[in-house]
Amino acid sequence: TGLVALDPGFTTTASCTSEVTFIDGDAGILRYRGYPIEQLARHSTFLEVAYLLIKGELPDAATLENWVARIKRHRLLHENFKAFFTAFPHRGHPMAILQGGIAGMATYYEETTQRVRDPEQQELQAVHLLAKIPTMISYIAKRSAGLPLLYPDSDMGYVEDFIRMTFGLPYQRYDIDPVIVRALETLLILHADHEQNCSTSTVRLVGSAEANMYASVAAGVGALSGPLHGGANEAVLRMLTQIRDSDLTVKDFVEKVKNKEDGVKLMGFGHRVYKNYDPRAALVRETAHEVLDRLGSGSDLLTIAMELEDIALSDEYFIARKLYPNVDFYTGLIYSAMGFPTKMFTPLFALGRLPGWIAQYVEMINDPVNKIGRPRQVYQGATRRDYVSLRHRS
Ligand code: CMC
Repeated sequence: TGLVALDPGFTTTASCTSEVTFIDGDAGILRYRGYPIEQLARHSTFLEVAYLLIKGELPDAATLENWVARIKRHRLLHENFKAFFTAFPHRGHPMAILQGGIAGMATYYEETTQRVRDPEQQELQAVHLLAKIPTMISYIAKRSAGLPLLYPDSDMGYVEDFIRMTFGLPYQRYDIDPVIVRALETLLILHADHEQNCSTSTVRLVGSAEANMYASVAAGVGALSGPLHGGANEAVLRMLTQIRDSDLTVKDFVEKVKNKEDGVKLMGFGHRVYKNYDPRAALVRETAHEVLDRLGSGSDLLTIAMELEDIALSDEYFIARKLYPNVDFYTGLIYSAMGFPTKMFTPLFALGRLPGWIAQYVEMINDPVNKIGRPRQVYQGATRRDYVSLRHRS
């Protein structure tokens, strides 16, 4: 079999070539299809960015209109999903339920899963996922709170209607603040792709076996749920709340992290690629101030977060290891101020990352040099030995 290179965590191994997203970790640059994240976050919409990532170009006005209209038409979830979600404990983690729901979509659209290389089928699966996942997330949120579900309203914008389905109630007027809609839209854009991160690599790996897009994206949701990845947004809020409710000062907490006491890390800090700053974190920080000023809530936790950031950024431990706030450091504070329960934060990340997963799946499956992903290993177990019958084992 010859020699194989060992690279735990793939720190120096590229698994593919890609034209979707460019990151320069030293310079703090992030671009989708060449467009700087700062410009897209300010001027674009989530569905336009989804089109850009998946198709490679910004759409013209008519194309965008068709794309949005097509997604709107598919937003209803099959009624059976209500019963499916009811089968889980109401306290069950939304990421686990979401993963099950997305994998289950393949049973309703089986005809789209037979020809994974057919561009029409790929587009239909992409539209299903983009259209139905916000409905699914709102159902999961409502069910865990024991509240009635709302159907999508095709007269409303994508993000606006997601907020209405999540927080609104039947026969009750629900006024949605456009500042909040824009803030959520911006956050979704900031999460939309991040090249070969853990969940995206998972989507590509599962898809490389020619598994359908639903199965591959469901696997990505599983990867994203981990606290070192998307689950960090939830972990940050728990950490801030813990500091607030304990006798520890922020400085004490930072000391605990530095001493690696009980394996405590500063959640929302550090990144495999960004070693200078995370350009998304800078934009999220701005949004946090806007939203928290507007809603006037969560300011005690924001104060702790800012103090934590200040102390960490001037401390030798963090400087030497090039640890800076990442995208997850401030997002939880914003989601919380918007009214999302802590357990719903990572599903919001999943919704944001969806266009990236789809774009990378499509790029992978259509790549003529794509092969099934099959890493090698360096075996370090026992050498050959003979089976010993049970009565001779001591
Ligand atoms: N707090 C304290 N120490 C840290 C942290 C942290 N958040 N992150 C890294 N370190 C230390 C680590 O202990 C190691 O120290 P030493 O050299 O003394 O052993 C050094 O910094 C290098 O860290 P590493 O674990 O080799 O870095 P990595 O590239 O393998 O891990 C990471 C990257 C993001 C998993 C890690 O920084 C981390 O666990 N951060 C906290 C979780 C988090 O915020 N995740 C969200 C990432 S961004 C969005 C996303 O992908 O979802």
